[in-house]
Amino acid sequence: MNYDVKDLGLADKGKLRIEWASRFMPVLKHIEAKFQKEKPLKGARLSACLHVTSETGNLMKVLKAGGAELALTASNPLSTQDDVSAALVKHYEIPVFAIKGEDNETYYKHVHQALDIKPNITMDDGADLVSTIHSKRTELIKEIHGGTEETTTGVIRLKSMANESVLNYPIIAVNDAKTKHLFDNRYGTGQSTIDGILRATNILLAGTNFVVAGYGWCGRGVALRARGAGAHVIVCEVEPLKALEAVMDGFQVMSLKQAAKIGDVFVTVTGDKNVIREDHFSLMKDGAIVANSGHFNVEIDIHALEELSKEKRTIREYVEEYSLKSGKKIFLLGEGRLINLAAAEGHPAMVMDMSFANQAMSALYLYRNGNKLENKVYAVPEDIDSEIAVMKLKTLGVKIDTLTLEQKKYLADWKEGT
Ligand SMILES: NC(=O)c1ccc[n+]([C@@H]2O[C@H](COP(=O)([O-])OP(=O)(O)OC[C@H]3O[C@@H](n4cnc5c(N)ncnc54)[C@H](O)[C@@H]3O)[C@@H](O)[C@H]2O)c1
Repeated sequence: MNYDVKDLGLADKGKLRIEWASRFMPVLKHIEAKFQKEKPLKGARLSACLHVTSETGNLMKVLKAGGAELALTASNPLSTQDDVSAALVKHYEIPVFAIKGEDNETYYKHVHQALDIKPNITMDDGADLVSTIHSKRTELIKEIHGGTEETTTGVIRLKSMANESVLNYPIIAVNDAKTKHLFDNRYGTGQSTIDGILRATNILLAGTNFVVAGYGWCGRGVALRARGAGAHVIVCEVEPLKALEAVMDGFQVMSLKQAAKIGDVFVTVTGDKNVIREDHFSLMKDGAIVANSGHFNVEIDIHALEELSKEKRTIREYVEEYSLKSGKKIFLLGEGRLINLAAAEGHPAMVMDMSFANQAMSALYLYRNGNKLENKVYAVPEDIDSEIAVMKLKTLGVKIDTLTLEQKKYLADWKEGT
């Protein structure tokens, strides 16, 4: 078996972490049992480019139980958990190509290695498989039934490929499932981003001015959790409606230039580029801490920070101290890469349970139906989304009411009024 991981000696520790995560992934376990019996993915070759975490380890086990041949590579050079990749290779015989801290060249070498199984399904988090296939491995396209995409930024990239008619196979936007972004992006990113910042810095959040750039699903979660920790949360947005929502949710809303002067901690979660840039660094207080939790490391203009600085050093793991020519210091966390995965462990398993249930069911849907779909970006079929919500509630022991026949009729009727 081909693989490239840091150290197989870490495998036993990784296996325990995969088992721990599985305790919080009951929906995925249910799917695994079904897949084990029915082998619905027999004959599928699936290349996955996902953050290699203990939760992803559980997804890989499910897909393998379904009969798929797999290859896994990382979707970010800093997000790999080396013990998990070792465990997947040694204990579950799943080929993994991922080493935490790998350079860009190795990252893309690994992406290519994961594609060498000639996939008929791709599973992306940020569209790196799709873009590599479309630019450098076009010979693979004819055998591909379809692909899935995990995150907002990937879906945006893929939709723009579809709009320009350059997308050559169908994609299911797992991110857009309600049982994904309403929970994973909001509560998962919310909690784990704070976790990453705290593990990197060990600062006290209470009383800080905590600036969140972007009030989308992730930004809402980060703002909510930072407020819970006692921070004064400031939101910066570009969309008037989202800004208004943040105001009504009780946050201070202002431009990033205003916030730059007073912020103690800054977090970007926009999916956009150069959100924090030279003008902002110049205005920041001495000691400001800057982090990103958006998908790519482009939200903070690190080049501008380098230009403004006379030297830098690593003062703690995941904390770079930049000494500016002006005399002040700015601290950049996790090289501007998503801090929840760089310095912490990513989203808790409880929330990834639903995201990855969507991945497993969407992969199966594509394997069965991909050849009938157009080269477009599709939503997760609604019945999959609602089945996952039903399963999650059941595993949480939550019972809900059902509509009576009279209520169903009333809600479908326009005649009954005052
Ligand atoms: N860290 C993680 O584990 C994780 C998890 C899920 C998603 N993500 C990533 O986080 C990013 C945000 O995802 P989302 O689902 O919240 O997206 P979203 O589209 O719901 O929200 C993004 C928000 O940022 C705002 N924005 C854009 N440019 C801005 C700017 N220059 N200044 C201020 N605000 C700006 C937009 O108006 C929007 O409201 C994406 O890159 C996504 O892929 C990361």
